Amino acid sequence: MPQRDGDLVKVEAPGEAHAAVMSARASGKTIGVVPTMGALHEGHLSLIRRAREECGYVAVSIFVNPTQFGESADLEGYPRTLVKDLKKCDAAGVDLVFVPDNDAMYAPDHTTWVEVGRLTQGLCGMSRPGHFRGVTTVVTKLFNILAPDRAYFGMKDYQQLVVVQRMVRDLNMPIEIVPCPIVRESDGLAMSSRNRRLSAEERAAATALSEALGAFVEMVADGEREVAPLIEAMSERIISEPKAELDYVSIVDARSLEDARRVEGQVVAALAVWMGNTRLIDNAVVDVSSDRAANDAKE
Ligand code: PAJ
Repeated sequence: MPQRDGDLVKVEAPGEAHAAVMSARASGKTIGVVPTMGALHEGHLSLIRRAREECGYVAVSIFVNPTQFGESADLEGYPRTLVKDLKKCDAAGVDLVFVPDNDAMYAPDHTTWVEVGRLTQGLCGMSRPGHFRGVTTVVTKLFNILAPDRAYFGMKDYQQLVVVQRMVRDLNMPIEIVPCPIVRESDGLAMSSRNRRLSAEERAAATALSEALGAFVEMVADGEREVAPLIEAMSERIISEPKAELDYVSIVDARSLEDARRVEGQVVAALAVWMGNTRLIDNAVVDVSSDRAANDAKE
């Protein structure tokens, strides 16, 4: 039987989670799902609150998915704060928290994978081979178990969001993916479970990411449309930080994730930076579609 904790139901077995969701669905409720790896912060909670506003039944999954980690040190060092997470879910009005263990999710002879092509090749796919295959596989499993009408994903992991949207479309999954804006600390650092691993010095240096992206947004607002000076300005801001090591900085089309030749339509500046042993990512989306409207008006 599911364990009850106030109104919050915590379930470990996939079959029980599925049954609970199906019975909510049978009573006419819209199902909203928020997949997470736990160590919940305000970023996660913004997704949960949005789901709570829009859905009659909200399920949150907490599972540190081993198949999306490269180095075992990263997996082993991943923060786990289940008791606090459950309290936060309870306070946010979550109906069900799905907390499977590895064995429940991956049988010893598990051999089936869901893989999205092309979109997963660049950006984080380049430095984290196999990562997105792990993400799309576990998200598919979570979708099958929790049968959402809507699933909530943060724009913080922009490539992950686009990859999941494409998977859902390509595989005809009847699920609406709801993108949610990035939640930041007061100094601009995007919230992340990994931030708590930063030393005080690294934490101070980590504002370089959002500052680099701020420079990008400002330059685009001032009319810059060439990619090279934008990349240079962002790289310089990161490199100026002795604690930081740049993994990549790219400007890509917001849908195809192909390198942008110029800033046109909707583009995303995305970057990944090592701060000591911690890899941080951040991005900013800009939309200059109005350029074309302005040019058309001139003609
Ligand atoms: P995790 O890193 O725990 O993130 C869970 C969800 O919270 C993701 O959709 C992520 O984009 C969102 N999120 C994290 N930080 C955020 C922030 N500062 N602002 C807004 N949203 C934020 O992403 C994963 O877990 C996993 O890959 C998962 C999808 C659960 C598959 O294992």
